[in-house]
Amino acid sequence: MQKTNDDFLLISRHLVMPQHLNPNNHIFGGQLLAWLDKDIYIFICNKLKYRMFVTVSMHNVNFKKPAYPGEILETYGQLKLVKRTSASAYGKAVAFDPETGNSREIIACELTYVAINEKGKPVRIENI
Ligand SMILES: CC(C)(COP(=O)(O)OP(=O)(O)OC[C@H]1O[C@@H](n2cnc3c(N)ncnc32)[C@H](O)[C@@H]1OP(=O)(O)O)[C@@H](O)C(=O)NCCC(=O)NCCS
Repeated sequence: MQKTNDDFLLISRHLVMPQHLNPNNHIFGGQLLAWLDKDIYIFICNKLKYRMFVTVSMHNVNFKKPAYPGEILETYGQLKLVKRTSASAYGKAVAFDPETGNSREIIACELTYVAINEKGKPVRIENI
């Protein structure tokens, strides 16, 4: 069975490496956003069984705790809303310690994607 965290489905795992850090040696916020954008994209593709979307918005971005080099981050998604051509999901990343089982939420946000056709135009989700 797929791993879950409070009704959120595990999407991916990332190892925090030196190239992901800010000058304070914590994870760089833009890196977290890039991972979540890509991972929630994959989550939406799997949920809606379609693979051409563009990101239109990232809302309520909340950087909750720092993450440090060597930590493993797990990204999770939960479908929020499917509308005419767009779909939104909650995304979050947690630092999970496989030795203790402890986890710490690093970032949470909401992302919206629009289904598009080959010409980049929105398509109705009921037709995909
Ligand atoms: C997404 C895009 C195709 C929409 O085209 P458009 O002609 O504006 O289409 P519409 O006005 O009909 O909007 C389409 C849907 O997007 C939603 N939408 C548009 N902007 C939004 C925003 N900022 N936040 C949430 N939803 C938004 C609309 O509500 C609509 O949803 P619905 O059909 O489910 O009700 C176009 O704006 C685009 O290409 N944007 C750039 C996307 C991009 O480059 N992303 C970064 C890289 S992936």
